[in-house]
Amino acid sequence: MYILTTIILSLSLFNIIIASRRTPIIVANWKMNTNLDTSMHIANYLLNNKNSINNDMDVVILPPLPFITNIKNVLDNTNIEIGSQNVYHQSVGPYTGKISVFMLNSIGCKYVLVGHSERRLLCGETDEDINMILKIIHKSNMIPILCIGDTENERDLKIQNEIITIQLTKNLHGLSREEIQKTIIAYEPIWSIGTGISMDPTMAQNMHFYIRNWISSRYGYSVGNNIRLLYGGSVKSTNSKELFKCEDIDGFLIGTSSLYPDEFMDIINSSVKLNKVN
Ligand code: PGA
Repeated sequence: MYILTTIILSLSLFNIIIASRRTPIIVANWKMNTNLDTSMHIANYLLNNKNSINNDMDVVILPPLPFITNIKNVLDNTNIEIGSQNVYHQSVGPYTGKISVFMLNSIGCKYVLVGHSERRLLCGETDEDINMILKIIHKSNMIPILCIGDTENERDLKIQNEIITIQLTKNLHGLSREEIQKTIIAYEPIWSIGTGISMDPTMAQNMHFYIRNWISSRYGYSVGNNIRLLYGGSVKSTNSKELFKCEDIDGFLIGTSSLYPDEFMDIINSSVKLNKVN
C-alpha cells in the first residue's frame, strides 16, 4: 500500500512538473531592415546552423512582410517558424495597404507581433486597436506576441506597474483563459529598445514576476504559470545568459542583434534552459 501511494504521488508530481514546463522562445523582429538579399543571407545562415538549435525551444523570425514567403521557403524544413510584424483587425475589405489574418494564414505564418511600442508611438495604435487585433489573431488560430512596456519617465515616476497593468487590462479585455494562456507577452522597457542598454536582470525579473502574478491573480494560477513571458530591449549575446537565468523570463524579443546571424545564434545557444519549471 505504502509503495503504491508513493508511486501515485510521484507520478502526479511528475505530471505537474511536465504540465508546467514552459518552452523557451526566441523571436527575431527584423523591423523595417534588410532587403531581399540580406534577408536571404540571414535565413541561409540559420538554415546551415539549424542543427545547433535545441529542439526544446521555439525560434521565430518576423521578416518584413514582402520577404515572408521567401524566408519561409528557406526555413521550411527546420524548426524555425515564421511570423508577421503586424496585422489589421479587419479580416477582409477595402482597407488599402492593410494585411489580414487570412493572408498571413495562407502563407503559413504561425505568429503575429502586436502592440510593439513603435506601432503604438509611430502608427498611433491604441490599446483598443491592439485588443481587436489580438482577438482576430486568436480567431484565426495564430499565436499573438503582445508587446507591452513603460517609458523612462514612467519608471522615474515609479508608475511602471500601473502603466503595465493598464496595458494588460485593456489589451487582454474579453479574451478567454485559453486565449490568454496561448498569448505570448513581451515586456520591453521602451528606453532600452535599440539603445544598446538592456535592463538590469534583477529589475527585469521583478517586472516579469509582477506580470505573471497579475495574470495568475486575474485568470488563475495555471494560466499565470504557463503563459510565456519574453524580455525585449537590447538583448545581445553578452547579456542574454544573465537575463535568461531569471525565473520568469522565458525568452527574448530581439531587434538589432537578430540582424547579425552569428550573434543571433549565440543568443539562441545561450538560452537553453530545459528545466524552466515552477
Ligand atoms: P532591440 O529591439 O533588440 O534592437 O532593442 C527590440 C524590439 O524592438 O523588439
